[in-house]
Amino acid sequence: MMKKIEAYRSLSKSEQIIQLSQETSNPDLVKETLQLFTIDHQNYKDLLENLSENTIALHMLPLGVAPNVLINKRYYHVPMVTEESSVIAAAASASSFWAARGGIKASVNGTTKQGQVHFKITNISNDFLLNIESLNHEILQKTNYLTESMRKRDGGILKISWSKMDIPFEGYVKCDIDFETQDAMGANFINSCLEAIAKISTDWINANYPDANCEVIMAILSNHYPDCTVTASVSAPLEKMEWQGHDGKTMSERFVNAVLIANHEIQRAVTHNKGIMNGVDSVVLATGNDFRAVEAACHAFASTSGQYRSLSNAWINDNTFTFSITLPLALGTIGGLTKLHPLAQTSLELLGNPSAKELMMIVASIGLMSNFAAVRALTSTGIQKGHMKLHLSNLLLSNNASKEEIQKATNWFKDKEISSLSVKVFLENLRNPNQTI
Ligand code: MEV
Repeated sequence: MMKKIEAYRSLSKSEQIIQLSQETSNPDLVKETLQLFTIDHQNYKDLLENLSENTIALHMLPLGVAPNVLINKRYYHVPMVTEESSVIAAAASASSFWAARGGIKASVNGTTKQGQVHFKITNISNDFLLNIESLNHEILQKTNYLTESMRKRDGGILKISWSKMDIPFEGYVKCDIDFETQDAMGANFINSCLEAIAKISTDWINANYPDANCEVIMAILSNHYPDCTVTASVSAPLEKMEWQGHDGKTMSERFVNAVLIANHEIQRAVTHNKGIMNGVDSVVLATGNDFRAVEAACHAFASTSGQYRSLSNAWINDNTFTFSITLPLALGTIGGLTKLHPLAQTSLELLGNPSAKELMMIVASIGLMSNFAAVRALTSTGIQKGHMKLHLSNLLLSNNASKEEIQKATNWFKDKEISSLSVKVFLENLRNPNQTI
């Protein structure tokens, strides 16, 4: 059983590593591994260590690229960070398929983000909302110092609206504020404005309604972004949809039915959307954006009808197959980690330093491509063939295969079924040629 480490935060980093290692079943290996991945990069040590608290090592994930993704007639080479071996290959393969059919069309539907100040206000006359315009005016004036630089970029506070709810508790009053944050994701900007608005509003209510009891419950942005969405779509004549020996019409009909199932059945919808997030998260992560916010927003958006459904849609009309996705994406290309983390900055460079709107279109397109590749495989060959091919190197490495063994295995498994057992047996036979197992 692990014991408590006393005064953990007062220990030096190397003392923390030693003490933590001693609590494990393999202290030498744990210590060695943590030390191997300790941040010792001359230029970035302080930056990377201080991104979060109690850093003891740098956790690495591969950064790859889906090349030649054609969006709105422009090629992008899209950086993706993911640990799942098939994700980049799938997005790249679907992108190449669609580049040959005119590429992806994408457009931003809106960029408005929201935040709320939640109050409990009791002992106030119901007509207080009739006078609220003068409070709104005061809010705009008194937050000028916070919104000045955002307003210079055509952003800032767009709208303030108040609702006296009285549900889920008596006196619950909600103030919704709409924001435009241009190329910034804007979380810090929005939260600073909201906290200022909470104070300005409380002071105004206390001054105008001295008998009222006004309590701020909380002030925070909402990660629900129904007005900050982007749509990406692809379409092609049915005859151009042929795949792996399946004619285009059959392929398209099977595909549409698969998406209809994801729209109807929650069991399938969750997995279908997971396939979309494979692509979405990897670009969001590569560009230093907040993938937890994106995940939360997308799953809430998938539930807006009251049932959790597919985030994408597919249909056939006039002999043409169309596949489309609309996602709520609050992304930034300035501020936050985007320019701070050297690889996030490099990823944005690889994308040609896009605006936030352009990045929204790129991310939605990669989500669409990931989804397309998965559903196309599921409705034709099944996914395991491709997955296991890409997973082969992981299986070989986990069996400590040498370079030579990896080469031999790669040749051998070209036309054989790959499984953890078949890889184990292959290596056993290679290592002990006279022994039959
Ligand atoms: C695996 O990471 C993602 C898939 O399961 C998505 C899907 O089923 O559509 C292949």
